[in-house]
Amino acid sequence: MTTDTAAQAAYVVAALLFILSLAGLSQHKTSRSGVVWGIAGMVVALAATVGLASRSITASGLVLIVVATALGAGIGLWRARVVEMTGMPELIAIMHSLVGLAAAFVGWNGYLDVDAELSGSLLGIHHAEVFIGVFIGAVTFTGSVVAYLKLSARINSRPLTLPGKHVLNIGALVAFVGLTVAFVVRPGMGLLIAVTVIALALGAHLVASIGGGDMPVVVSMLNSYSGWAAAASGFLLANNLLIVTGALVGSSGAYLSYIMCKAMNRSFISVIAGGFGTPAAAADDDEHGEHREINAEETAELLRDATSVIITPGYGMAVAQAQYPVAELARKLRDRGVEVRFGIHPVAGRLPGHMNVLLAEANVPYDIVLEMDEINDDFAATSVVLVIGANDTVNPAATDNPSSPIAGMPVLHVWEAANVIVFKRSMAAGYAGVQNPLFFRENTQMLFGDARQRVEDILRGLDSLDTPVREMAGTTR
Ligand code: TAP
Repeated sequence: MTTDTAAQAAYVVAALLFILSLAGLSQHKTSRSGVVWGIAGMVVALAATVGLASRSITASGLVLIVVATALGAGIGLWRARVVEMTGMPELIAIMHSLVGLAAAFVGWNGYLDVDAELSGSLLGIHHAEVFIGVFIGAVTFTGSVVAYLKLSARINSRPLTLPGKHVLNIGALVAFVGLTVAFVVRPGMGLLIAVTVIALALGAHLVASIGGGDMPVVVSMLNSYSGWAAAASGFLLANNLLIVTGALVGSSGAYLSYIMCKAMNRSFISVIAGGFGTPAAAADDDEHGEHREINAEETAELLRDATSVIITPGYGMAVAQAQYPVAELARKLRDRGVEVRFGIHPVAGRLPGHMNVLLAEANVPYDIVLEMDEINDDFAATSVVLVIGANDTVNPAATDNPSSPIAGMPVLHVWEAANVIVFKRSMAAGYAGVQNPLFFRENTQMLFGDARQRVEDILRGLDSLDTPVREMAGTTR
């Protein structure tokens, strides 16, 4: 078997492993094996690619490959080890930017180093591939960098609203199509520089125009763009695996974005066109009246008398790392005969499945963790809802106030329960920067402080409520 045939066979194996990986990642129970399939696929793919390259590589080229692989693997391992769960979206965003940058470089290289055997229509196709690859790569690069800056709060997450922003976006797309035709007819560096600049500006503008609430969809869209950028590089490098992998990432990212748009009642086209996100309404406590506060001991008493409890976690639970005491609280209440369930909003936290991962980490049984649609009708018959560090995902303004920036986004109907306890540190707005009228409802009480500490206080409160009962039982025996 020649090296080429062996490498192509390895590519097929790697592609199958990637498909198995995606299938595994689609369910909690199989997600670990999904990751293992993915790692195995990447090892096979890297080995085959290096094997292919080694047929015609110089010694210095080989050294470069080894150094680049060691550097990349080292940085990847380090980042993956130190990243907080809450920092995952920005890590993903910055990684997408590297995929985009690589695709743009591959495109430029395709222009500077044209295969001498190409001529006629094949050369035309090659130049179209170069142009499209550079365009998608550059859009992905700056779009991902801006997403990273927004997600890591290095720049304001509010949407940029330049006058005529849609005209600017459409103008850039029309210019791209026109320049592509011109480049295929008469390739020149000036045209390639022009499309690179336009694409860099378009990527930055598209993401800068998107408001905080729509950022999850943007991260997933950039994931999709990075896949298409990789597929474009695959065509240029005549690498079948890159084409297959790019298409898998591109289509799964696009599908995930579609699911998220449905979950948030957003128009898919509007989000990818950078259309959503009006500036967040400023908080105005007077409009809503006064909020009421509760302390941990009183909450423990409320829970002791409850028959059913729903816990709706959000980003704050992740920040406080409160999943462990929360799991303990759920266990304790269930031991006392209280029905306890978790209600998970599809975009709670900062990445898809964020809450599910945290709860699984703390060994909360899967069967009491329900999706929003499965639990939304049950709030009305619930004694107590514990909103632990969630805000936008439980905001009634999304259903009641058509002028709210999050109007139309499906939310957890926590306010329908008899009692709602909101765990947070202040009256500050959530990620979308929108005030939450839930905090001012008659059946809502605020439990201020770090969510982990407050849940631990409640656990102690429950214990001390139990103590006199046990002591009394001891004395009467
Ligand atoms: P958010 O609306 O982000 O609100 C989180 C709340 O947690 C804040 O109000 C904050 O209030 C509180 N908090 C922070 N640290 C805390 C701590 N240590 N202890 C107690 N509370 C704490 O949360 P959400 O309801 O989960 O909504 C998620 C938002 O993020 C949505 O707007 C969504 O669109 C967006 N988003 C989601 C994703 C994905 S894919 N899930 C990705 C990016 C963005 P205080 O500061 O007052 O404590």
